[in-house]
Amino acid sequence: MELTFIMIKPDGVQRGLIGEIISRFEKKGFYLKGLKQVSVERSFAEMHYADLSAKPFFGSLVEYIISGPVVAMVWEGKNVVVTGRKIIGATNPAESAPGTIRGDYAIDIGRNVIHGSDSVESARKEIALWFPEGIAGWQSNLHPWIYE
Ligand code: TYD
Repeated sequence: MELTFIMIKPDGVQRGLIGEIISRFEKKGFYLKGLKQVSVERSFAEMHYADLSAKPFFGSLVEYIISGPVVAMVWEGKNVVVTGRKIIGATNPAESAPGTIRGDYAIDIGRNVIHGSDSVESARKEIALWFPEGIAGWQSNLHPWIYE
């Protein structure tokens, strides 16, 4: 079963959106495989966003991610990477559809509440980076109620 890495960014944590965000993924039918609240170091945030290091917004993005604790999660389910990105909405909240997390709860691109892996391969890398200790190996017994 496919896995993705989802992170509630510092603004999402401070604004009390943890429960709301978890609820949206849970109600869809996805399964929470791993969860922790952590404050990351600058070097760790730079590693997470290494692909964007040449972008002009890289510095402010890293400052934002280290500005407070984040909630790091691993979610499991069929097509969870692509569907998770749909639940999250477009990168810029000005363009995110209402009904998506960013569309409902964010205004500025630099305060867009949540991160989600953009491919199965980046999910694998991000899960390895954020959960080096590994994640639970057991399955939800809800599967027969979610999948045909
Ligand atoms: P990106 O990986 O392009 O988007 P996404 O988070 O939707 O996968 O960019 C990572 C984060 O960088 C994005 O969530 C917000 C921030 N960002 C800016 O601050 N300014 C920008 O112009 C872009 C493209 C992203």
